[in-house]
Amino acid sequence: MSDSGQQLTAAGELRHLLTLEGLSRELLMQILDDAEQFLAPPTQQVVRSRVLSGLTVANLFFEPSTRTRASFELAAGRLGADVLNLDVSTSSRIKGESILDTIYTLQAMQVDSFVVRDAAAGVPQMIANAVRPGVCVLNAGEATVAHPTQGLLDALTIRRARPDLASLKICIVGDIAHSRVARSAVQALMTLGAGSIRLVAPPSLQPDAGLYPGAALYDNIEQGIAGAHIVMALRIQRERIADHDDIPDSETYAQRFGVNPHNLKGADDDVLVMHPGPMNRGVEIDGGVADGPRSLVTEQVRNGVAIRMALLERVNRTASQWRDT
Ligand code: NCD
Repeated sequence: MSDSGQQLTAAGELRHLLTLEGLSRELLMQILDDAEQFLAPPTQQVVRSRVLSGLTVANLFFEPSTRTRASFELAAGRLGADVLNLDVSTSSRIKGESILDTIYTLQAMQVDSFVVRDAAAGVPQMIANAVRPGVCVLNAGEATVAHPTQGLLDALTIRRARPDLASLKICIVGDIAHSRVARSAVQALMTLGAGSIRLVAPPSLQPDAGLYPGAALYDNIEQGIAGAHIVMALRIQRERIADHDDIPDSETYAQRFGVNPHNLKGADDDVLVMHPGPMNRGVEIDGGVADGPRSLVTEQVRNGVAIRMALLERVNRTASQWRDT
């Protein structure tokens, strides 16, 4: 195996985005700063929006997605890339072609970046190990393990709303056991120095021991949310759960773990609320809270495009050293 599957080069540059685990605070801050540039009003932006002109980005989503796929598509398009969206329902994978055959076929068509979502753990790394130097891989959601662009857009959203991360109590409520969003968000927030992180879930949806060193676990929302400045609600990942008997029914769940006005009472007076989507209104989040003045949901979506622009630009800049000019 060549070392081209490593996400960092020997010089520490980001070549693929596979996981946030192990990335430095400095690198994460640079990525957030780059994304800020793309959020500036068009008249104030440094003119660099066509940096991916002549390059091709392929979106390979082997799991359903609306916002992440749309977000990557817009990000790549706004940087001037050609974008290929592979329709998975008609793709060769269904006909028994392996993922790598699909990758080699697209690579032969001069695809420069692969954006990959898959239900199996390890797929982004496997693709990174197989592509030729000069081709980048970005993880757009990997099983329950990682969703690095989501973790970064959540960190950016929090930093923009409450820049003093070290003073923040951040509470994530929901199906922590199956959440790649929680995994990546906590990795980013810990590295960036968030004050404290609390994870709240019913006993059957608690994470495996040791997965979240440094975070406090609760099975009671009142305790977990007390004094929180940021509360992030997560959906129950029913498609990843074989035995549904242990999961509370929607009504009980909404009452005990829903981010709603009643459960938010003990939070900080200026609490802000987040959700990665797709939302189940009235279950893990109350509709009025999601649409209300404390909600950052729209900012998360907006910031997601900027984060993906920053990452596509960065990994392609690194990869350009192995490309013919
Ligand atoms: C999340 C995902 O796919 O992991 N959604 C997203 O990327 N916006 C969360 C979820 O599906 O619940």
